[in-house]
Amino acid sequence: MDELSPSPAHVTVLLREAVDALAIQPDGIYVDGTFGRGGHSRAILERLGPAGRLIAIDRDPQAIAAGAELARQDGRFSLHHATLGELGAVLRRVTGSEDGAVNGVLADLGVSSPQLDQQDRGFSFRFDGPLDMRMDTTQGETAEDWLNRADEQEIGEVIWRYGEERFARQIARAVIAARIIGRIRTTRELAELVGKTVRTREPGQHPATRTFQALRIFINQELEEVELVLPQAVRGLRTGGRLAVIAFHSLEDRIVKRFLQNAAKADHLPSKLPIRANEVNVATLKIIGKPVRASDAEVSANPRARSAIMRIAERVETRT
Ligand SMILES: C[S@@+](CC[C@H](N)C(=O)[O-])C[C@H]1O[C@@H](n2cnc3c(N)ncnc32)[C@H](O)[C@@H]1O
Repeated sequence: MDELSPSPAHVTVLLREAVDALAIQPDGIYVDGTFGRGGHSRAILERLGPAGRLIAIDRDPQAIAAGAELARQDGRFSLHHATLGELGAVLRRVTGSEDGAVNGVLADLGVSSPQLDQQDRGFSFRFDGPLDMRMDTTQGETAEDWLNRADEQEIGEVIWRYGEERFARQIARAVIAARIIGRIRTTRELAELVGKTVRTREPGQHPATRTFQALRIFINQELEEVELVLPQAVRGLRTGGRLAVIAFHSLEDRIVKRFLQNAAKADHLPSKLPIRANEVNVATLKIIGKPVRASDAEVSANPRARSAIMRIAERVETRT
């Protein structure tokens, strides 16, 4: 496909594996928290019977528009413009309860190919476009506005923390110096500025890769969103319900991994200890299998799949 085509497709990562992970019951209620272009959603709908339901969420208005026709055609499917962090509120609105309402939740985190490949979204250094980087273009501050108002220390911290970029301080200094001459407006301006500042290239990587990743994560509060959605997903699951999360970088995956490990851990205390039941940690999840990665065949067909890692867990009975 032409890289600059206006509406590039999204190739779904871990398609069968993710849908298998949800262990779909035909009359169950499922959540696709990251609709994108609906690859996972369509596969879930294929496994649902007439009484099943799928509640999909995306914060990107273009994803919502792309799924509107499916929502019109299929009465089992509804699509909501919301963030993952609003999962509980969406469940309350759609099912009447945010507690034990659904049989499975899937989150395929990060950006979609259409977001990356559309130059006017400003996510990619490969094209020249406005430095926007918001997944939800209806609200929030653009990368351009932030980059032109933040101070040097803030910029350095963001690029270091979310990009793990060794040259974060130097890049921040270069941004401030460039701002004296004029506003930084485009992806190309930023990519060139970073390219001049980052002296050592990682093999096969554009020098601006880490900076763009950092800004994107920061502008969309991506890590905070993961922190917010996980407990809401656990609350939303019925006993036996499945949670599957696909992460694309280690910062995100670390949050998922720690959350699942903690949720799967119960306190083992001597039975005669004089403490109240609500002071004891009860396991809410059971981890299912090992983390799943894309096969070699998938990675060679879709290089984006290389960094994907999916973790799966099941809601366990917590009533005592
Ligand atoms: C990797 S794509 C999902 C692709 C999808 N599974 C498919 O097969 O087409 C991620 C999507 O999730 C959305 N997204 C990412 N973070 C989100 C969040 N915190 N809240 C809501 N949507 C989010 C993005 O806008 C994007 O459309």
